[in-house]
Amino acid sequence: MSDRSWDHIQWAFQECLSPSCRVRIGIDELHVACPGCGSLLDVRYDWDRVPVPTRLGEFESRWADRRDPLNVSGVWRFRELLPFAPLESVVTIGEGQTMLRQSRSVERFVGLDEGGLYLQHEGLNPSGSFKDNGMTAAATHAGMVGATLAACASTGNTSASLAIYSSATGVFDCLVFIGSGRIAFGKLSQALDFGAHTLQIEGNFDDALQQVREVCRREKIYLCNSVNPFRLEGQKTIIYRILEGLDWEPPDWIVVPGGNLGNAAAFGKALAELRDLDLIDRVPRLAVINAAGAATLFDLFELHSVRWNDGVTDDATIASYYQAMQEEDRTASTLATAIEINRPVSLKRCLRSLDICDGVVRQVDDAEILDAKAQVGAGGFGCEPASAASVAGARLLRAEGVIAAGDRVVCILTGHQLKDPNTTVAYHSSRPGAVDESLVSRGVEAVRFTNQPSAVANDIDDLLELIRRR
Ligand code: F0G
Repeated sequence: MSDRSWDHIQWAFQECLSPSCRVRIGIDELHVACPGCGSLLDVRYDWDRVPVPTRLGEFESRWADRRDPLNVSGVWRFRELLPFAPLESVVTIGEGQTMLRQSRSVERFVGLDEGGLYLQHEGLNPSGSFKDNGMTAAATHAGMVGATLAACASTGNTSASLAIYSSATGVFDCLVFIGSGRIAFGKLSQALDFGAHTLQIEGNFDDALQQVREVCRREKIYLCNSVNPFRLEGQKTIIYRILEGLDWEPPDWIVVPGGNLGNAAAFGKALAELRDLDLIDRVPRLAVINAAGAATLFDLFELHSVRWNDGVTDDATIASYYQAMQEEDRTASTLATAIEINRPVSLKRCLRSLDICDGVVRQVDDAEILDAKAQVGAGGFGCEPASAASVAGARLLRAEGVIAAGDRVVCILTGHQLKDPNTTVAYHSSRPGAVDESLVSRGVEAVRFTNQPSAVANDIDDLLELIRRR
């Protein structure tokens, strides 16, 4: 493939998601929504002009080149599939060097035949979550438009990711807005350590997002939440790496936790583009898994049958759902704090993905999430609670018979095990019938796979006896 010679600007543009608007804007402009109708934006390309390889396998050779940062990056080595940036503008810290791995024990837990389950370990990113895939793209675009200050609202991982790109590259300073009290300590510690100006708002994630959008609009600050369509361009590469891990043969299912729905949105876009470019001949099915305490997508899609419908979504049903949520004072509540979100901003983009991928949505409760997380840990990976929703969801879909025993299934592990050690220790300190108070107070009454530490005297005989009895 030829490199560094293409004139990117002419074939890339931003386009409004709404079919009745479809306004086009240059990629050099900075908007957090369509200036015409307020809908979300997409980054789009005139693919006929992009030198896309004729086979996905052509991307593989770049792995061998460890000296070029653009080839080391698991995002930018697929640069022809997100061609919005001049290569000299790319901001990378080696993100996306993540792996598709297998674990027989987790596979058994899910109920799949041998060899059927794959775990895409996005916790291996520099800041420990999948967010770096998108943040490298947003940081690149921020540099292209000359931003010196960037901001995001976050349940923790987006803020850690923005903070690492700010401190590691010096392209911009950053502000992170977080809700009070509900951010896992691993993530908060990252934002602080990377030097982000951290604003802890009295309120939840949805409040923080509303405020950051307004602040960015008024102050012309670069917004890095997934309303920013450039971020999703980077997150498409998770799909490319999955396909690469499977020798470019699409799996039957991709299962992903759903929070603000940026990932689900990016996955559908990536797969539709690959299909339209004739680079894959089959689109896998998508399963988006909500935590039961934060199940807006599940409610709207599965209970109220809200569909993409060629972009003509049933907005009245969506509005009345949110209205009732407000009147009944229902707010999201789950131990999987990363996905504790009431009003997912990429809802409509996600509906589009579910349409593209013949998708389903399920909800799993916190006990199911924590048990699945313990299985992932015992299987040799480790992930944070929200990530394990994918494994718990795959298990549920398998039990329902929606996923067949012989299917090939990829679960996305979105964040690293060390993001939320408090929940992990509380889980493993529990016993059947004596669940840790911090979990009981959040509605978890039973746990299945705990691994308690053994208390023992500082005495060699006691120690040896304990070890021999084990
Ligand atoms: N898993 C983890 C570990 C997350 O941090 C998030 C989102 C999700 C899943 C859900 O992904 O929003 O694309 O549906 N975390 C955001 C944050 C909201 O602020 O870090 P999504």
